[in-house]
Amino acid sequence: MAEVQTQNTDHPRTTVKLQPGEKVALCRCFASQKFPFCDGAHRQHPGRGPAIVEVVQEAEG
Ligand code: FES
Repeated sequence: MAEVQTQNTDHPRTTVKLQPGEKVALCRCFASQKFPFCDGAHRQHPGRGPAIVEVVQEAEG
């Protein structure tokens, strides 16, 4: 499961750590109640949508 850590400074920065094979939708509209994750609120803002981030597992062998 994604691990989220936010540093509240003058320029807040959020770090999201993912496990191999994990996939998340990150909010780019700043309207999500689950920020930094997308909750669908962007549908109220035409032309905006999430960034889909996926950690691809390396093939074995
Ligand atoms: S809620 Fe912000 S991109 Fe989906």
